[in-house]
Amino acid sequence: MPHEPSAPAPQPHEPPPNRLPPGFRWGVSTSAYQIEGATTEDGRGRSIWDTFTERPGAVRDGHTAENACDHYHRWREDVALLAGLGVDAYRFSVAWPRVQPGGRGPANAAGLDFYDRLTDALLAAGVRPFPTLYHWDLPQELEDAGGWLTRDTARRFADYAALVADRLGDRVRDWITLNEPFVHMAFGYALGVHAPGRALLLDALPVAHHQLLGHGLASASLRERGGRVHLANNCTPVTPASDAPADRKAADAYDTLHNRLFNDPLMNGSYPDLSAYGAGDDLRGALRDGDLDLIGGTPLDGLGVNYYNPTRVRAAPAGAGLPFEDVPIDGVPHTAFGWPVVPGGLRDLLLGLRERYGDRLPPLTVTENGCSYDDGPGADDTDRIGYLDGHIGAVADAVARGVDVRGYFTWTLLDNFEWAEGYHQRFGLVHVDHETRTRTPRASYAWYRDLIAAHRAGA
Ligand code: NOJ
Repeated sequence: MPHEPSAPAPQPHEPPPNRLPPGFRWGVSTSAYQIEGATTEDGRGRSIWDTFTERPGAVRDGHTAENACDHYHRWREDVALLAGLGVDAYRFSVAWPRVQPGGRGPANAAGLDFYDRLTDALLAAGVRPFPTLYHWDLPQELEDAGGWLTRDTARRFADYAALVADRLGDRVRDWITLNEPFVHMAFGYALGVHAPGRALLLDALPVAHHQLLGHGLASASLRERGGRVHLANNCTPVTPASDAPADRKAADAYDTLHNRLFNDPLMNGSYPDLSAYGAGDDLRGALRDGDLDLIGGTPLDGLGVNYYNPTRVRAAPAGAGLPFEDVPIDGVPHTAFGWPVVPGGLRDLLLGLRERYGDRLPPLTVTENGCSYDDGPGADDTDRIGYLDGHIGAVADAVARGVDVRGYFTWTLLDNFEWAEGYHQRFGLVHVDHETRTRTPRASYAWYRDLIAAHRAGA
C-alpha cells in the first residue's frame, strides 16, 4: 500500500459533505471498558483489564477504570449527546464480563438489561445501535484458563455472542464481532503492554487464530439470528524507510503481520506467508482442518477499518527479535499522543484494500478515526477539527475513486480511559472532567454536528 507521508496535513477548510454520497452513514465509536466504570456493579465479573490496571507500572500514573466516565450511570446524558450530534449510528461495545461474569454459562440478566435499555434509548433517539461484541475486556476466569491462547476461548466467545444476540437481535441488525484483533494480540499477548500483559513475542500467534476462529463461530450464531456481521481491523499503510531491499523486505514483513494476518483469512480464506517470522501458516500449530472455512467461508457483510496513522519501518539489526523497526515519520504534524497526522494515509489504505482484495472486499466502514489533543473545554479545538476534516476528505477521495465506503465513525464521543495511557490522552468530541465527570462538548462536536446536518440536507 504505497503512499507518501511527507505531504503536510491540510488545514481546516469547508467540510466536504457533498462529496460523499447520499445515505453515507455518520457515527461515533466508544468501548465499554473505556467509558462505563461501575466495574463491580450488578454482577459484573472481573476482566483482564481490572487485573492489569492493578499491576504496578502497567498504566501511566496508576490510573484505573473503576469509574471511567461513569457512563454506566450517565448513559442517558450520553445518548442525548449522540442525539444532539445527529449521528446515524453509535458504535459501542458490550462488556463480556457483564453478560457472563466468568465467561461461560447462563447470562447475568442485569448485565444484558443495561445494553437492552441503551439499545432502546438509542433507537428512540433515532440512532442505530452498532455493537461490538469484544473490545479487549476478556473475563479474567477465561484468561486464567489460557485466554486467547486456547481454542476453547473461541467457543466461549460464540456462546456469549449468541446470548447477546438472543436479547438484542430483534433491534440490532449490524454487529461487529472483534475490535482490532491485531492490537489485542500484539500489545496484550506479544509485548505485554496491554492486558493480559503477556510478553510471548511470536508465541502469541495462536491468539490471532483463536480470535478469528471466535469470530467465525460467533458469525454463524449472529447470522442464524438475522444479524449482519462485520469485524473492525486496525490497518496501517506501511512504507520502507529507504529503497534498500532490506528495508522493503522489512516493510513487507510488517504489512504481513499488521494488515494481512487479520484480513487475508477473512477475504482470501488463507493466512499469509509468515516465513519472515520463522513461522508456518499453521499459526504455531493452532490451525485445524475446517477452521479457515469457518473464518472466511461466508463473506463478511462489511469490514470495519480503524485508521489513525501510517507506519514507516526499516530492517532491524541482525539478531533482533522481529525483522523490522519503527522509524519516526517527520515533516508532518503530530498529535498529543505523538502520532503523525497523515490524512492521505487513509485514502491510500482504502484504495490499497480495494487493490489487494478486489471483488472479495466487502463494503467498508471507517469504524474508528480520531486524535488526541489536550484541549480544555473552551479551546478552539482547531487541531482536532483539522484532523477530522482532512481524514473525512480522504474518505471522500477514496469513494470518488470507486471504493465502496458506507460510513465514517469518529473515535470518540468522550475523553476516556486510553488503556496504558490512563486518562492522559483526550480523544473526545466531548471534554470530560475526570474529577467531576462533567461533559462539555468541544468545538469539534459542533463542527461534526454541522457537517452531518449539511450532508443530510444535501448542502
Ligand atoms: C483503537 C482502539 O480500538 C481504541 O480502544 C483506542 O482508544 C483507540 N485506538 C485510540 O488509541
